[in-house]
Amino acid sequence: MSKNIFDSGSIRIYHGDALNFYNNWDDPTVIISDGPYGISGFPGDPPSHDGLAEWYEPHIKKWSEKSTPETTLWFWNTEVGWATVHPIFIKHGWKYRCCHIWDKGMGHVAGNVNGKSMRKLPVVTEVCVQYVKEPSFDVDGKSLSMKEWLRYEWARTGIPFSKTNEVCGVIDAATRKYFTKCHLWYFPPAEAFEKIQKHANTHGKIAGRPYFSIDGKKPLSKQEWEKMRAKFNFIHGVTNVWTEPPVNGKERLKNGLKSIHLNQKPLRLTKMIIELSSDKSDLVWEPFGGLCTGMVAAESLGRHGVAAEINKEIFEHAVNRLEDISIEVPLPL
Ligand SMILES: C[S@@+](CC[C@H](N)C(=O)[O-])C[C@H]1O[C@@H](n2cnc3c(N)ncnc32)[C@H](O)[C@@H]1O
Repeated sequence: MSKNIFDSGSIRIYHGDALNFYNNWDDPTVIISDGPYGISGFPGDPPSHDGLAEWYEPHIKKWSEKSTPETTLWFWNTEVGWATVHPIFIKHGWKYRCCHIWDKGMGHVAGNVNGKSMRKLPVVTEVCVQYVKEPSFDVDGKSLSMKEWLRYEWARTGIPFSKTNEVCGVIDAATRKYFTKCHLWYFPPAEAFEKIQKHANTHGKIAGRPYFSIDGKKPLSKQEWEKMRAKFNFIHGVTNVWTEPPVNGKERLKNGLKSIHLNQKPLRLTKMIIELSSDKSDLVWEPFGGLCTGMVAAESLGRHGVAAEINKEIFEHAVNRLEDISIEVPLPL
């Protein structure tokens, strides 16, 4: 095979450095980052976490530029790798949501531990950290968070803050949640936002209208407001600790007896993070494809996907994998 792009219609995989492709990819709803760990885990993975932050920064910068408030980013790494890179996410406008622990269980180290020479306990975990891209609002040369912008806009109307309760039809929840300055602040649901916006634009000072507008021409609609935060489809019974053995059996891609890629991620966990953070037809990015488990999951869940893989041999294995599942996925009638 000599082609550098695989395209199934819904999934595209590129051979090369992901940095060369971001500009041409549509905006993502989900980004799954499973790149270098700093443990020499695969060809090209640096031997230590020193320098990981610098390595990731150009990628994180591009992800920030191309993401929207609906985007969720899942960052797989070791605990210390993540700790090293976390400040770069913050620097580029990502907000930390949750750290998930993949507990691979004793099966991951069984038979490989020599207690006499070990100076630490065996590690059977990786982290998968959820970040969201919160919107910021440019006002008078300053960048305001959503919490600040809501207060700023309501203050401009000249209507007292206490009035928001009546507008939303609640006793004291609206001022306490949607307009508080403290950590108890809560994103107004679309219905509440619509009531707030309509009241402001009907009763607020005429000179300042429109209120709650981004383009200065018309206020945000209920539908536009719904797109102002990352998608999240809660799954009952799932916590931030994911107990799942390393990939094995039929799922593990092998060349003879040898695993093709030591970092192949479990399909079940990959599907779960995509389901949590997107809907059908949304776009999933997998910049460090490996065997492109994210693309396999995206395809099976009716999402679109784009991926990159820098290593030609691995790219070709990923393409074969996607070609196989494309054959298995029934064509629409
Ligand atoms: C941890 S593995 C991904 C494993 C994948 N999640 C899976 O389930 O198969 C990381 C992959 O990223 C690739 N890679 C590293 N740097 C890259 C870059 N700049 N652009 C594209 N791929 C890259 C490596 O060759 C490696 O195969």
